[in-house]
Amino acid sequence: MIARFLSDSSLRTKLTLLPIIASVFLLAMVGVFVTLTIRENALLKHIEQNTLGKIDRLMSLKDTLSQNHGELFALLASSSERWDEEQIYVRGKPRLYKIHDVGDALHALPASFTVSDNERRRIELLLKRLEEYKGQAISAIEMASVDLNLANKFMVLANDKYVIATKNFLELLNASKNETLDFIKQSREDFVTKTVSAGVIAFSGMTLLMFVSVRTANFVSDQIKAQIALMKRLSDGDTTVDVPVPDRRDEIADLMRGVGAFKTSLIEQEKAKQQAEQANIAKSAFLANMSHELRTPLHGILSFANFGLKNVADGERQKLKRYFHMITESGNTLLKLVNDVLDLSKLEAGKMTLDIRPVNVDHLVEKVIDEFRSLTMEKNITLRALPHTDNTRVQIDSTRIMQVIRNLTANAVKFSPQGGMVEISTHRQEDLLLVMVSDLGPGIPPSEIEAIFDKFVQSSKTSTGAGGTGLGLAICREIIAAHRGKIWAENLAQGGARFCFEIPTEASNVLVSGKAVVELAAQDSAA
Ligand SMILES: Nc1ncnc2c1ncn2[C@@H]1O[C@H](COP(=O)(O)OP(=O)(O)O)[C@@H](O)[C@H]1O
Ligand SMILES: [Mg+2]
Repeated sequence: MIARFLSDSSLRTKLTLLPIIASVFLLAMVGVFVTLTIRENALLKHIEQNTLGKIDRLMSLKDTLSQNHGELFALLASSSERWDEEQIYVRGKPRLYKIHDVGDALHALPASFTVSDNERRRIELLLKRLEEYKGQAISAIEMASVDLNLANKFMVLANDKYVIATKNFLELLNASKNETLDFIKQSREDFVTKTVSAGVIAFSGMTLLMFVSVRTANFVSDQIKAQIALMKRLSDGDTTVDVPVPDRRDEIADLMRGVGAFKTSLIEQEKAKQQAEQANIAKSAFLANMSHELRTPLHGILSFANFGLKNVADGERQKLKRYFHMITESGNTLLKLVNDVLDLSKLEAGKMTLDIRPVNVDHLVEKVIDEFRSLTMEKNITLRALPHTDNTRVQIDSTRIMQVIRNLTANAVKFSPQGGMVEISTHRQEDLLLVMVSDLGPGIPPSEIEAIFDKFVQSSKTSTGAGGTGLGLAICREIIAAHRGKIWAENLAQGGARFCFEIPTEASNVLVSGKAVVELAAQDSAA
């Protein structure tokens, strides 16, 4: 419970409650001690004033009693043969009359016990007085016995009234007085012991309180200093610092969590900054590429149009035709470039809607091979589909998947040497369709095998003079991702590269099935 209090309560509560609890504890201690002292003192005073006074009164009573007693015995002695303090002997025989029964004894005195009338009257008077004193003594004893531990002792005495008249009684009274004085002395000593222990406990309480206060203050100060140091390092840009996350719930813990959140946001900002910087670098590269790509065909269009203008009056028809042909080709290159840029920006903006239908991928491959026939003949490249028996009917957007196959084939043909060979193969692997396009070109440096799928990125092996903008593979990756598939490149052992993609054969429910919406231009990438 204390541990929970220390971990869960706020610092304000801790710093306020701890001294309050300790003060209440100390106050209670002092209160108990003061009450004890007051009561103790009152009792001791009472004993001194009443009890000792009563004992003194008893003692003086005893003196009076003893005088009467003495007189009585003197009288008895003159009348009887022999006496001692306890017994009266008549004619040699002990009569065993106790003194306090002397009244009864007097009446029972034998006839031989001669007492004159005068003597009898004195005896009777003395006996009466003795009885009176006894009565007073007994009530004094009873009163005294209320106050003292001596009570029992005195009650015993009171029951044996005779003892009052004996000298033992004085001894007992003296003993009682000494006992009472001892008791008072003992009590005073006890009182000192109690005072010292109460002081020790109060002092320990205060020490503990100071210890707890100092520890709490140190804890708070240390924690805040540590957080300040962390913040300093973070603000110096060192996001590698370890920011501990405590499971406590006080303000310091909140502060630590705040510093943690600060670090996270710094890291995110740093990441965003790096991404922005990279995007900026890529954009610069793209602009450089693009300006080159745009300028070359535009330059072609303008210069051939100029040639045409100059030669329009007397030029050979054949020459003019060639100019127009060049102008058309340059225009097409420009259009393709602009289309690629538009295409990718739409794909990236998530504006592509797929038109999913069952399609045989082998048919798409055949169509692409047909499209490249003249180009491959020009470069003396063999482009073919590998034979197989797999079922290649899948749920896809055929226009988009054909665009991918076309892009991969275009790259393979572009980077193949004269007389090279490009092969396209399709395989069904359970609920996946795998398509691979391989060539005998330069391959891709392993460190760039993933980066080439980023937009505007071209591999260091092919970037010299090969042309292109680095958008084709980025477009392919977007299309395959939209089909919940993946695309990758690998180098072949015998040289050359192989580009593969796989897609699920069943349209997953994230795809928009059967919806004939294709926003993008049908113009495909053939860079
Ligand atoms: N078959 C291939 N062999 C070697 N490198 C390739 C191949 N296909 C693509 N690449 C590398 O990937 C880069 C990006 O390709 P792509 O995105 O199609 O852009 P582009 O064709 O416009 O250069 C190419 O510039 C080239 O460096
Ligand atoms: Mg390309």
